[in-house]
Amino acid sequence: MASVTFEHVYKRFDDTAVVNDFNFTIDDREFVVIVGPSGCGKSTTLRMVAGLESISSGIIRIGDRVINDVSPKDRDIAMVFQNYALYPHMNVYRNMAFGLQLRKLPGPEIDHRVRKASQILGIEELMERKPKQLSGGQRQRVAVGRAIVREPAVFLFDEPLSNLDAKLRVQMRAEIKKLHDQLKTTMMYVTHDQVEAMTMGDRIVILKGGYLQQAGSPMTVYRYPENVFVAGFIGSPSMNFIQRPIVGGAIDLDGHSVAFDGIVSDLFDLDGRASCIFGIRPEDLVIRNDSMADNAFGRMTGRVELVETTGSESLVHIVACGEGLVARLSSEVSIQAGESVTLSFPLKKIHLFDPISEKSLRKRVENEL
Ligand SMILES: Nc1ncnc2c1ncn2[C@@H]1O[C@H](COP(=O)(O)OP(=O)(O)OP(=O)(O)O)[C@@H](O)[C@H]1O
Ligand SMILES: [Mg+2]
Repeated sequence: MASVTFEHVYKRFDDTAVVNDFNFTIDDREFVVIVGPSGCGKSTTLRMVAGLESISSGIIRIGDRVINDVSPKDRDIAMVFQNYALYPHMNVYRNMAFGLQLRKLPGPEIDHRVRKASQILGIEELMERKPKQLSGGQRQRVAVGRAIVREPAVFLFDEPLSNLDAKLRVQMRAEIKKLHDQLKTTMMYVTHDQVEAMTMGDRIVILKGGYLQQAGSPMTVYRYPENVFVAGFIGSPSMNFIQRPIVGGAIDLDGHSVAFDGIVSDLFDLDGRASCIFGIRPEDLVIRNDSMADNAFGRMTGRVELVETTGSESLVHIVACGEGLVARLSSEVSIQAGESVTLSFPLKKIHLFDPISEKSLRKRVENEL
């Protein structure tokens, strides 16, 4: 059991900095997901903890111990990779037992650990099979089993599910989460998939270009994104953004306006600004064609371009304020391409950002959710 602490950690490959001043603590027994687009430095961060990459500067601790110069085998970690590389000529049992045999653990202890892990993972029936006689999901379980038997202080996962088909990924995602609840070990999990991050992490860390953008519980980063990047990255479909002028103390939405008094001025600091980036999530837009005025809601007018129905819901593509927006509506709503619509949105759900720094203009974040 152990925490993992990063203090001013940098990683450079020759002249290229790929991790910059990374500061973060993963608490003991916490499940933290590192998420971000391809090339943002996720694997490099994880590999520095594993000892597979050196640390250019800064300190990484596991518990109280600085591990910068500790050899990988003495770090008390176990890593599961995307390409799980099982030994093809060994059966499942030996694949799981092999690392422990190398460490010269007593036979009965090895047997006990392998049996226990196979029970947890539901692969007891597969112990005699070779990897090629297993499905992708079963192989993935064996790879996880091989990590479990080591009883490490910290588990490191690098995109362990990306070789699986969509359905199996969802199933394994739930299994790894359950495993964490059972083992109560510190876990650090890397993915580029924001849905995986949202559903699995106690907290998630969002990286871009080697810089930490935001860290927090899934609902905190979803509700209170600190910048445009996080706002657009977390949530699917992505948040809608429109850059709009501020005219006479209100955000001008082409014929409609969102006034600053009341809810908006309570939530955001817009003093002295000439424009802002207005953000609204697809699920926070509704279509209301009545003329009822309500101070808690804002409005804009648009024209429907396309309706995509998934069965339970429709993604309605609309042009409003000269930008393409997406609204996520119940598929019960009858709506067709070419229609003019009035979109309504709760003012509490809007996001406003500075157009230059792209930072949120929110005055404060409510208590951690
Ligand atoms: N050994 C290396 N030498 C030089 N550059 C490297 C090396 N390893 C990684 N990089 C670069 O460092 C950056 C971060 O790589 P990293 O593998 O950490 O990204 P990632 O976030 O895991 O991406 P992905 O989602 O594609 O796996 C990339 O630009 C990559 O090209
Ligand atoms: Mg990677």
